[in-house]
Amino acid sequence: MANVIRSTAAKLQISPTLGINELVLKTRAEGKNVVHLGFGEATFPIQKDVLRIYREASSTTSYMPVAGTEELRKSIADFNADRLNVTISPNQVVVAPGSKPLLFALFDVLEGDVLLPRPSWVSYEPQVLHAGKKLFWVETDALDRHTITEAALTAAYENAISEGADPRIMLINSPSNPTGHVFSADCIQTIKSFCKLKGIALITDEIYSDICFDETQKAISAFDSKSNDSETVILTGGLSKTYSAGGWRVGYAIFPPSPTGETIRNTILAYASECWSAASAPAQLASVKAFSTCQDMVAYRKSVTALHRYCSTRMYQTLKDLGLDIGEPRGAFYLYPSFSPYAAQLNKLGIFTSADLSTWLIRECGLAALPGSAFGEDDTGPMFGRFRLRIATSYLYFQNEADRYQHGYALLEACSSGHEIQLPYLEEAVYVIKEVIEKLKAIPV
Ligand SMILES: Cc1ncc(COP(=O)(O)O)c(C=O)c1O
Repeated sequence: MANVIRSTAAKLQISPTLGINELVLKTRAEGKNVVHLGFGEATFPIQKDVLRIYREASSTTSYMPVAGTEELRKSIADFNADRLNVTISPNQVVVAPGSKPLLFALFDVLEGDVLLPRPSWVSYEPQVLHAGKKLFWVETDALDRHTITEAALTAAYENAISEGADPRIMLINSPSNPTGHVFSADCIQTIKSFCKLKGIALITDEIYSDICFDETQKAISAFDSKSNDSETVILTGGLSKTYSAGGWRVGYAIFPPSPTGETIRNTILAYASECWSAASAPAQLASVKAFSTCQDMVAYRKSVTALHRYCSTRMYQTLKDLGLDIGEPRGAFYLYPSFSPYAAQLNKLGIFTSADLSTWLIRECGLAALPGSAFGEDDTGPMFGRFRLRIATSYLYFQNEADRYQHGYALLEACSSGHEIQLPYLEEAVYVIKEVIEKLKAIPV
């Protein structure tokens, strides 16, 4: 029988995040305990007024406008204008059922091949390849695996040109999934200037922008409508991370106020009208409040950030003290250690890749984390990229949803007011990680 699947689509696989979930469930079904650090889903209780508005809006069943309601686009525009100290009009905003479909659409409609920092979030690469584009990795700093230099940009660009490609799109993500790092203003400027010089459209995925451990870093963004190298910078964000509402499916893109920005926005709107029509109506109505800059939402965002910072910092200190290579997290809820200091011991166990390491940790040590290879790391490349794991701390707060709503608000409140808090699942994770390292240290090399 002839192929029924187009060659670009045939390469698609179930996302590694879901794959790891299945392995965790299977291992647990065998009666083994597994600490789940593999899934980057925010799990705090949603802010109470936002929840109330959603409930009240549940009888709204009509389609919303393709671009999103005027009120929501204004709320998103005002929120980001306030954060970045720029002017943004609601007409620059497009709302969608999550930022993922918007990223998919952007890769699909924009011309040219793609530069992506190594490592990058798991879904960009499949989206790029599915769009029939070539992908070229931009190497990042050996320790923080995030910082990008002009030399690294030039190397990736020249590599693309030498392979006959046409690199015209770059995507960056800060705070980053998987590294938990944040770009400095200088680094952003280097990337922007390079993109401007080479005629590259820059997509800046800022879905974790509220979760910056240093408040002042929230405003560091490539999206700056005041500067003249911003005419093809597109910002994406959404409700999933800060507000723990991934399941409501609300994301957005903000386009630059330039003729090119308008052309891209109109094309995305046409695409949306033929593909997803609009984001969910009740979720859009509730999101107006979520993105608002009123005092109670500002307080909610602050307490969410304080709790993520507490948990990430404790985990970072543990991993560092155990001798792993790790950059200090500055945002989001991820850590990205390398087990390469234990490479000799791992090799003795027959572990040669980050995927081997991830499977061994789940099966033999009761610890689930995603392998660096899922984020583009080359397990045969330089040592600093090998044996990387992405650790997500977002599942370390509650046992289940009932627990989340029973204790979550008090926990958020306690952490933001500086009271002592107890996180038993975090302590359990720390204990299991220490056991893993003891196990490795006991292997003679
Ligand atoms: C870096 C990054 N970008 C985008 C998304 C997509 O989020 P959503 O489609 O829920 O807006 C995620 C979700 O995990 C992410 O980690």
